[in-house]
Amino acid sequence: MSEIKALKPTVEILYAEELAALEANDDGPKPKNWRLSPKAVRTFILGSSKPLKLKRKNVNVTKKFYGDDTLIERCIITLAGNRGLMLVGEPGTAKTMLSELLSAAICGCSTNTIQGTAGTTEDMIKYTWNYALLLAKGPVKEALVPSPLYIGMQKGIITRFEEITRCPAEVQDSLISVLSDKVLNIPEFGEEGLLCASSGFNVIATANTRDRGVNEMSSALKRRFNFETVFPISDVALEAKIIEGEVEKLIKNSNIDMEVDRDAAEILATTFHELREGISSEGSRIDKPSAVMSTAEAVSVYYQTLMSSFYYGDSKIDMSTMVQNILGSVLKESREDVDKLRSYFNIVVKGKSTKMGGNWKDFYEAKKWIK
Ligand SMILES: Nc1ncnc2c1ncn2[C@@H]1O[C@H](COP(=O)(O)OP(=O)(O)O)[C@@H](O)[C@H]1O
Ligand SMILES: [Mg+2]
Repeated sequence: MSEIKALKPTVEILYAEELAALEANDDGPKPKNWRLSPKAVRTFILGSSKPLKLKRKNVNVTKKFYGDDTLIERCIITLAGNRGLMLVGEPGTAKTMLSELLSAAICGCSTNTIQGTAGTTEDMIKYTWNYALLLAKGPVKEALVPSPLYIGMQKGIITRFEEITRCPAEVQDSLISVLSDKVLNIPEFGEEGLLCASSGFNVIATANTRDRGVNEMSSALKRRFNFETVFPISDVALEAKIIEGEVEKLIKNSNIDMEVDRDAAEILATTFHELREGISSEGSRIDKPSAVMSTAEAVSVYYQTLMSSFYYGDSKIDMSTMVQNILGSVLKESREDVDKLRSYFNIVVKGKSTKMGGNWKDFYEAKKWIK
């Protein structure tokens, strides 16, 4: 059988070697049924200072999350204490990434996931039935279709609940008894209808502050979770580095033979940062667009630009294409923000182009595309 290369490999596959090296060198105490100790989980996410040995090979554990290291420690401790973890923040602040990394390191599985939507029902969270079997045989075990929450409890692994606040509040509340008593009732099974969670089970939920919001979540459910807010990256150079790293990963997974231009990544990071913060590095006030100017969005703008240059251009990042892609991001929420972007170029980019020239000059000259 020919090997199928996944379009987006899971975290546990992507970092299989790092996880194996961490496991082989892990001498820290572990909570019950954890694959790695809290110490090693931290190293997996924040990187190790020196390579780890794995069967005479040196394995570098890369840094994957940039920002507040203590946030990572608090998240791991929350999970070690069997409390649910709720990651909240603006879109694109790496909440999903963090929940995948934590799950892969703790239980070796990052894909046991419920995606919250307005259409999520209580059945989807607990369990459903294979109706053909149910009609033929009644409520027998084989007729039950387990949800990711059910599987998490049964196997003692983590269930990820993405965008939980997009679900109706009463549906979210079906988690309350599972999180507090760690049992799930299956009344159809009669006396045997009690699923007790195995050690290692827990829930990591994510919620975007831009959605209906955590305010509408019931206080009973809120009490079952420890909340951690993930903030956008505040350092431009770091954001440029993340864009570069992420785009390099995307290039590796495609057939594109191009280098990431550090200078262009820095211009993009600066623009996103200044539009997000509403102030330029020179201190000029900027009217903020209502769209989310996240790092994830910047990565996508850069990758789009790079692909255009690769397939249609001369394999050099083209600033006109970059501006067109930035415009697409800025206008996602409101068409009227075109004026805000234009005035950002007229005031801030113009200044930087005069002062620094080079790519900034090309960037400024591409402002004709903002229309
Ligand atoms: N602090 C950070 N450290 C590392 N990468 C980050 C950070 N913030 C954002 N990113 C990048 O942006 C992406 C954010 O995507 P995602 O996890 O889907 O965000 P969210 O779930 O918060 O909307 C990550 O995959 C990563 O490439
Ligand atoms: Mg997300």
